[in-house]
Amino acid sequence: MPATLHDSTKILSLNTGAQIPQIGLGTWQSKENDAYKAVLTALKDGYRHIDTAAIYRNEDQVGQAIKDSGVPREEIFVTTKLWCTQHHEPEVALDQSLKRLGLDYVDLYLMHWPVRLDPAYIKNEDILSVPTKKDGSRAVDITNWNFIKTWELMQELPKTGKTKAVGVSNFSINNLKDLLASQGNKLTPAANQVEIHPLLPQDELINFCKSKGIVVEAYSPLGSTDAPLLKEPIILEIAKKNNVQPGHVVISWHVQRGYVVLPKSVNPDRIKTNRKIFTLSTEDFEAINNISKEKGEKRVVHPNWSPFEVFK
Ligand code: A2P
Repeated sequence: MPATLHDSTKILSLNTGAQIPQIGLGTWQSKENDAYKAVLTALKDGYRHIDTAAIYRNEDQVGQAIKDSGVPREEIFVTTKLWCTQHHEPEVALDQSLKRLGLDYVDLYLMHWPVRLDPAYIKNEDILSVPTKKDGSRAVDITNWNFIKTWELMQELPKTGKTKAVGVSNFSINNLKDLLASQGNKLTPAANQVEIHPLLPQDELINFCKSKGIVVEAYSPLGSTDAPLLKEPIILEIAKKNNVQPGHVVISWHVQRGYVVLPKSVNPDRIKTNRKIFTLSTEDFEAINNISKEKGEKRVVHPNWSPFEVFK
C-alpha cells in the first residue's frame, strides 16, 4: 500500500525550555553560493531550523538567506558552532559568528569538537582553519587545554543573550561523563550533535543523552556525501513497497527514533523531500535497525585528532 507522506512539524524541547523543530537543514559541505540558495529554498518550503558552523565558512550566506526569506527571525531556530582554534575565547568567536550571520543571537551554540587546536600554529591569521604541525599532524593541544575549560567559558554565554542555549558536538559518552562530573560544571549541555544513520545508530549514546536531558542531533543522517545509505538494498526495498523515495524512508526512521535530524542538501527537490515523512511499519523499522547488526557499524566522519581520543 502506498504510504501517506506529510510535512514534519514535530517540535522537541531543549532542557532550557526552548523549542527546536525536529528536522533542520544541514549546511556542511554546501559550497560557494549553494548555502544561500539552499537556506532560502528551505525557509520558503517551511523549514524553521538551520544548522551551520563557523568552519563551514557559509555563515554569511546563511544569514543573508534568513534575512531575504522574510521569515521573522524569532520563528527560525539557528545553530552555529565554535571552531577548535577558538576554545579559549568562545565569546569572541560567537561575536564573530553573529557578525557574519548578521544576527543578534543564535538559538544554539555548540562546541564543534571536544578538542582544542593550538592557535600558535595558525598560518596567515586564518583562524577558521585546521592548523598543522611540521609533521603534517593536526596541532591538537592536550597539554595546556581541555574541553572542560572550554565548557566553563561556554556555559556563561546564555547570560549574554548572544545565544539562547549552549551544547556540544561529537561528544562520546565518556567525554560527556567527564564534562558533567567536572568541578566547574554548572550547566548540562542542551544538545549533543553527532553522526547518526542506519550504519551508525548510536543507541547507547542516544539513551545516555536522553537520561541526562540532552537533546541528540543527527548529522550526516543519510551517510554524508552522495547519501550512500539511500543505496542500501533494504532501504530501496522499503521505499518501493511504500511507493516513496529512499530519502523519505531514512528520514522517517530517524524521526521515529525521536531526535533532531539535520539532512544536508543544496538541491531544491531533495531539500523538500527531506522534510516529508511517513510512519514506518514495525517490520520496516526493525529491518532498518538490523542493517548495522548485519553489516557492522560504519563511521563516515572520523578526522584524526590524535593523540586525543574523540570517540573512545
Ligand atoms: P545534494 O546536496 O546535492 O542534495 P547527509 O545529510 O547525510 O550529510 O547527506 C548529504 C548528501 O546526500 C549530499 O551529497 C546530498 O547531495 C545528498 N542528498 C541529500 N538529500 C538527498 C536525497 N533526498 N536523496 C538523495 N541524495 C540526497
